[in-house]
Amino acid sequence: MSKLDFISLAETPHEVLHHYLDIAHRLKQQHLATGRNDPLLAGKMLAMIFEKPSLRTRVSFETAMVHLGGSAIYISPNEIGLGTRESVPDVARVLSGMVDGIMARVFEHQKLIDLAAHASIPVINGLSDYSHPCQAMADLMTIEEHFGKLKGLTLAYIGDGNNVARSLVVACAKFGMNFRIATPPGYELDDESVQHIMATTQGFDFVSAHDPHEAVRDADVLYTDTWVSMGQEAEKAQRLAVFKPYQINDELLAAAPAQAMVLHCLPAYRGLEITDAVIDGPRSLVFAEAHNRLHFQKALLAAMLAHL
Ligand code: CP
Ligand code: NVA
Repeated sequence: MSKLDFISLAETPHEVLHHYLDIAHRLKQQHLATGRNDPLLAGKMLAMIFEKPSLRTRVSFETAMVHLGGSAIYISPNEIGLGTRESVPDVARVLSGMVDGIMARVFEHQKLIDLAAHASIPVINGLSDYSHPCQAMADLMTIEEHFGKLKGLTLAYIGDGNNVARSLVVACAKFGMNFRIATPPGYELDDESVQHIMATTQGFDFVSAHDPHEAVRDADVLYTDTWVSMGQEAEKAQRLAVFKPYQINDELLAAAPAQAMVLHCLPAYRGLEITDAVIDGPRSLVFAEAHNRLHFQKALLAAMLAHL
């Protein structure tokens, strides 16, 4: 890709991801210390296309643009008809002459690839059925803030081998973390993604199994996400039954080392994949993690739209 896009962590060089994280920490510190940020994106406009609902992604991107002196346009699921009312290449061409960047949340990942291929401006993945790279980078930021490092830490992901898990495994591999995943049989990460990350990351310590207790045994971070992702509502009853043994609760947390902390990308379905006691407890970083979406989004936008 000749222009800068943020569609996939696997395709973004490690140095670039590292740079984004560094800027995120710096902008956060500046904002907390002074209550403001430099107007790095003055006069810039971000188009935000949503085919699915959102709280964090929408608010963090829009607030990030405003903090940096720019603006954002929210395009709701009913408005644009990406690929139905208008072809994806035509949407990309039109927006390229009007705004400075596109952030899109879509069902089919291919739509992001097509948007990026036909836009002359940066395109950012705000979640697809395949991946959620902005979330994984905010997660790394949160882990680094808490532990003071990433390299050598072990993250145990408990639950569905979904879009969030797929981005997390790449993020962990690229930053020298170890990865454990415990899923019900049939809900593992897809082989192709795992083979790609194993082939491109020398010495990556990766274990995929089915026992959550085994997965958390040497974990520094426990991570979970909903058992029913957006678009999977028809499978809800079946999924809730299959995933029941995969809840992060006090008993599972007790099987992890004393330093282990808990992350969840949110929204959380309390009482299903995670209990109130854990998410509201002293070992939860969940709300700091949500807030870091804002700080990471600022860094990403400053780097991509202002070449910071
Ligand atoms: N974690 C996350 O992406 O949240 P939203 O779906 O609310 O944007
Ligand atoms: N896996 C979830 C993540 C939500 C942020 C979903 O795709 O619905």
